[in-house]
Amino acid sequence: MLEFSCSRVCKEKASSVTEDKMVFVCVEDFEKKAYGVLEKSALDYYRSGAGEQFTLNLNREAFRRIRMRPRFLRDVSKIDTRCNILGIDLKWPLGIAPTAMQKLAHPEGEGANARAAGSAGSIYILSTLSTMSIEEVATAAPNTNKWFQLYVYKDRSLTEKMVRRAEKANFKAIVLTIDAPIFGQRRSDVRNKFSLPPHLRLANFQGIKADGVRSDNEATSGINAYVSSQFDPTLTWKDVAWLVKLTRLPIIVKGVLTREDAVLAREFGCAGIIVSNHGARQIDTVPAAIEALPEVVKAVGNDLVVMLDGGVTQGNDIFKALALGAKMVFIGRAALWGLACDGQRGVEELLRVLRKDFEITLALAGCQKLSDITLDMVAHESAYARL
Ligand code: FNR
Ligand code: LAC
Repeated sequence: MLEFSCSRVCKEKASSVTEDKMVFVCVEDFEKKAYGVLEKSALDYYRSGAGEQFTLNLNREAFRRIRMRPRFLRDVSKIDTRCNILGIDLKWPLGIAPTAMQKLAHPEGEGANARAAGSAGSIYILSTLSTMSIEEVATAAPNTNKWFQLYVYKDRSLTEKMVRRAEKANFKAIVLTIDAPIFGQRRSDVRNKFSLPPHLRLANFQGIKADGVRSDNEATSGINAYVSSQFDPTLTWKDVAWLVKLTRLPIIVKGVLTREDAVLAREFGCAGIIVSNHGARQIDTVPAAIEALPEVVKAVGNDLVVMLDGGVTQGNDIFKALALGAKMVFIGRAALWGLACDGQRGVEELLRVLRKDFEITLALAGCQKLSDITLDMVAHESAYARL
């Protein structure tokens, strides 16, 4: 049974969170602990989705609507979760999705998260809107396989410079987020007038451009105001062609939810796709990522590396995504909960718990290795309605 003390990271909260021995057996245990230690506006920023959060719940619910169809008597004495994604050898098909401003969760922020990803044999995707710079994360986690998530700024030369910085810092791919020309309406951020505390900065822009996140009036979230002033909403697929030409790194587009955009991603030279609804933080009532996955896989699964994020919190979520054609999945919030609990150690423990759950799922489903996972090992709940 996994045990580790969850010592708190925020000074002001140290007294309230003792070094108690908690037993963490699932992502929810880390989430519950994180809820108790994160400052309210940071917690609201991390947990919220857009609008009435219908899709936020659907991201989890849709996984539950998929039934596992296990096969037995198939010698599962040895389980092998290794895979190779875009030339990178991974210990298992899970990575950490880009989430902004991770020092809100722990003083070591993105560095701790990236180191944990490295020790788990996962990929770490650094957000453009990080509280540690590209160079700082590269120094903090030199052995972690890192991708850089890019937001395109109105200032194109700034955007090009960020790509060059990622190349120089040995990041292995550029993940272009295409679903956020502006940010979705996260109601708690507006109510909280979300701002980055003054001691934290958007580290990639320190001394270059606006690097603070402040709510400047009654009715805005500071991050939404920042994005509307800095991001380029004129972006089209032509800009993807520009990016593909700009760098030798593979380009992955993140946020695809339709077969039509998947086909365009292939047409414009992308190497991969992350099927994602941005953790349900952009448009409410879009499908769950796992619901959108099959049409994307059908359209381009033989030509591009199709991956998924959104609602992944347990081993059978990973299994279902792979059975439906994803090559790997990413977790966003779950890693933040681990980070909030105990920095690098918290994320490492969370990844250990998740990987163990995945390995158990493989064994009980009759799979020795990832290629044993097939489409007929899952079925939508409606398939059982007719019985
Ligand atoms: C995000 N996400 C995100 N995506 C991105 O491309 N750039 C970013 O900076 C961020 N920032 C961010 C902050 C927070 C607090 C959250 C919750 C999410 C979206 C993220 O990469 C991913 O798509 C979702 O988090 C996946 O869903 P789960 O795993 O959180 O359910
Ligand atoms: C968000 C941005 C940072 O979802 O992607 O908050």
